Amino acid sequence: MLLGSRSTPRRIVAAAATTILAGIMLTLMIIKLPYSGRLLRHSRDLSHFQNLHNTTNVSGSLAFKNTTIGSIKIKEHIPGWPYPLLINDPNACRDDDIYLLNTVTSNPSQVYHREMIRNMWGRKDIASQLKIKTVFIVGKVPSDITQQHLMEENDKYGDIIQFDFLETRKNLTIKSLAAIHWFRAYCPNATWVLKVDVDAYVNFWALLEVLRPVNDTKDAVCSRSLSRIVCREANEYGCYPHYVVTPEEYPLEVYPPYCQGYAYIFHKDFADRMLKLDQQRTGPPFWIEDVYVTGLLTRNLRPRWLDIRRHSEVTPYEIESRFYDGKMFFIHDLEGQIGQGATNYVWNKTLQHYNITLPS
Ligand SMILES: *[C@@H]1O[C@H](CO)[C@@H](O)[C@H](O)[C@H]1NC(C)=O
Ligand SMILES: *[C@@H]1O[C@H](CO)[C@@H](O)[C@H](O)[C@H]1NC(C)=O
Ligand SMILES: *[C@@H]1O[C@H](CO)[C@@H](O)[C@H](O)[C@H]1NC(C)=O
Ligand SMILES: *[C@@H]1O[C@H](CO)[C@@H](O)[C@H](O)[C@H]1NC(C)=O
Ligand SMILES: *[C@@H]1O[C@H](CO)[C@@H](O)[C@H](O)[C@H]1NC(C)=O
Ligand SMILES: *[C@@H]1O[C@H](CO)[C@@H](O)[C@H](O)[C@H]1NC(C)=O
Ligand SMILES: *[C@@H]1O[C@H](CO)[C@@H](O)[C@H](O)[C@H]1NC(C)=O
Ligand SMILES: *[C@@H]1O[C@H](CO)[C@@H](O)[C@H](O)[C@H]1NC(C)=O
Repeated sequence: MLLGSRSTPRRIVAAAATTILAGIMLTLMIIKLPYSGRLLRHSRDLSHFQNLHNTTNVSGSLAFKNTTIGSIKIKEHIPGWPYPLLINDPNACRDDDIYLLNTVTSNPSQVYHREMIRNMWGRKDIASQLKIKTVFIVGKVPSDITQQHLMEENDKYGDIIQFDFLETRKNLTIKSLAAIHWFRAYCPNATWVLKVDVDAYVNFWALLEVLRPVNDTKDAVCSRSLSRIVCREANEYGCYPHYVVTPEEYPLEVYPPYCQGYAYIFHKDFADRMLKLDQQRTGPPFWIEDVYVTGLLTRNLRPRWLDIRRHSEVTPYEIESRFYDGKMFFIHDLEGQIGQGATNYVWNKTLQHYNITLPS
C-alpha cells in the first residue's frame, strides 16, 4: 500500500478501510457476475498442471474391448481410439468435395433438433453449394427402443455416427474427441472440422467467408474466454450444480483460457496434433468438455487462434437482425431461449439475406 510516511493514524485507518472495502467489492464482483465477471487472468500456478496427461495411468480401463459376433466380426473402430463404432458410414465423405466437416453432437433422442438441421444446412443442395458435410455424433443409451429409432433414423438419412460409450454428461469430452477422431479417419480431405452442439444456430455463409482466407494462417477458431474460476460449490451466481468439480478432478482454482464449448473449429493439421497429444493421456479426460478440448489439450500446442467472440451470441433474448445479416456465425440455443419457430424464422431471414430461394 502506498501510504506516505507522515500518515496520521486516522489516515491509515481510512486507507485501510478503503482497501478492505475495495477488496470486498472486488470479491463480490468476481462472485456475482455469472460469466464475464468470473474471467480472471491466467494464473502462473497453472504451470504445474502441464503434465496433466502424465499424472495417472489407468490406460488399462480404457483398453479397446473387441466385441465379436460369432467368432469373426470385430466392431469397426478407429485406430488409436478405444471406443468402437456402432453406427457408421465410412464412405460419408467420399466422392464429395468437402471443405468443412460439421460434426453435430447430440444425444440419441434429440430427433427434433437433428430434423431441423437436415432441413437447413444439412440439405444436400445447400451442403454441396457450401462444400460442407453434416454428421451427427451420438453415444449409446441403455434403451433398446431409442436405439431402434436411432437406427431407423439412420436408415433414412445415413448421417448418424454412433460410438460405443455411454451417453452421459460426464462423457461429453469423449464425444467431442470422438468427433475429431472420426473427422481425421473418414473425412481426411476436409480442411476444417466444426464441433457444434445440436441446438446451436450456424450461419455457414458468414462463417466460411471468414474461414476460407485463413486456412493457412489459423489453427483454431472459436469464441475465446479468459481463465475462469473452477466451480467448487453450487450457488446462484452461475456455478450450477452440474459444473461442480472436485479438487481430485481438477486441482487448481482457475481454468486455463478456453473456448465456448457449443461451437469451435479446428484445422485438420492442428486436429492431428491434438489427437496425438491426447494419445499420451493415460486416464479419462477431464469431463468438462470445452475446458479439456479447447483449453487443457490445446494450451501447450499454442494454436494460432481466430477469436470470433463478436460473432457468437450465447444468450439471445429476442431475434435481432444481426442474427441473419451475416454478423453472427453462431447463436447458442436460439430455439430454447426464444421459443419454438425462432430457428425457422432466422433461417428464412438468412436465406433472404443471401438471396437464396429453395425448391420446396
Ligand atoms: C509427459 O512427461 C514426460 C516426461 O516427464 C514429458 O517429456 C512429456 O512432455 C509429458 N507429456 C505431456 C503431454 O505433458
Ligand atoms: C501407462 O500404461 C501403459 C500401458 O500399460 C504403458 O505402456 C505406459 O508406459 C504407461 N505410462 C506411464 C507414464 O506409466
Ligand atoms: C482385438 O482387436 C485388435 C485391434 O483391432 C486386434 O488386433 C486383435 O487381434 C483383436 N483380438 C481379438 C481376440 O479378436
Ligand atoms: C482424398 O483426396 C485424395 C487425393 O485427391 C483421394 O485419392 C482420396 O480418395 C480422398 N479421400 C476421401 C475420403 O475423399
Ligand atoms: C462413459 O462411457 C463408458 C463406456 O460406455 C462408461 O463405462 C462410463 O461409465 C461412462 N462414464 C461416465 C462418467 O458416465
Ligand atoms: C488455402 O487457400 C488457398 C487459397 O484459397 C489455397 O490455394 C490453398 O490450397 C488452401 N490451403 C489449404 C491447406 O487448404
Ligand atoms: C419459412 O419459409 C417457408 C417457405 O418459404 C414458409 O413455409 C414458412 O412458413 C416460413 N417460416 C417462418 C417461421 O417464417
Ligand atoms: C441480394 O440481392 C439484393 C438485390 O438484388 C442485393 O442488393 C444484395 O446485395 C444481395 N445480397 C447478397 C448477400 O448477395
